[in-house]
Amino acid sequence: MNVKNIKSFVEFYESLGVSTFLTHSQRSQSFQKNLSVQKKGNFSLKKNNNDEKSNNLKILKKKIEHSECNLKDIASNLVFSDGNCNSKIMVIGEAPGAEEDKIGKPFVGEAGKLLDKMFSYIFLNREKNFYLTNIVFWRPPGNRVPNNQEIEMCLPFVKEHIKIINPKLLILLGNIATRSLLQINEGITKIRGKKFFYLDKQNNMKIEVIPIFHPAYLLRNPIEKKHVWEDLKKIYMIIKKNKIC
Ligand code: URA
Repeated sequence: MNVKNIKSFVEFYESLGVSTFLTHSQRSQSFQKNLSVQKKGNFSLKKNNNDEKSNNLKILKKKIEHSECNLKDIASNLVFSDGNCNSKIMVIGEAPGAEEDKIGKPFVGEAGKLLDKMFSYIFLNREKNFYLTNIVFWRPPGNRVPNNQEIEMCLPFVKEHIKIINPKLLILLGNIATRSLLQINEGITKIRGKKFFYLDKQNNMKIEVIPIFHPAYLLRNPIEKKHVWEDLKKIYMIIKKNKIC
């Protein structure tokens, strides 16, 4: 811009009543300041949300501890959850086994090792980007399948758990998790790798679901492992497409 143009530019703004001008550095300083206030705002909002979530999880755990379930008196520990509660992927299994019962954490035995290995192929790691729990919070004796009464007793807590975590993707492991949370009766062999939705009308929630084989089933039926890679690829594509991680 030449001097003549600057002069007419200033005259034009003076004619509009503008008497102060920001220099480039003043403007960028105030812009930077606004940006950092905004960033600080977002950070503290996120922190407040995370604090609220941790608090709600503590309250839920207490409620479960005080609930009535016949398994509670036989089990050594309540097995609540593991992983990153702020991640957008929630994995739900069936019920704790012997190792989980001893330690009080889900998926720490052989099935858990396989689960971690499978998920590592698609860059999922329970410490960083997924959260996991079960349909039933105590070990059924002798690792039997939980019965309907035990599932019905735990289900309202599982639904509250999902509401608190508010994931963008639910991965359900095996028949018990899929039958309890999706209104379908077909077995996992038919529905694995297909897309479903978990609906919670009361809380206006609709979450994408991918059912896959339970890792304990894969340990017992290693021939089925050949399907797992296809299902993991589907999960990976959903994560990428929806920018979930
Ligand atoms: N199987 C499950 O379904 N959950 C566990 O926590 C461990 C094994």
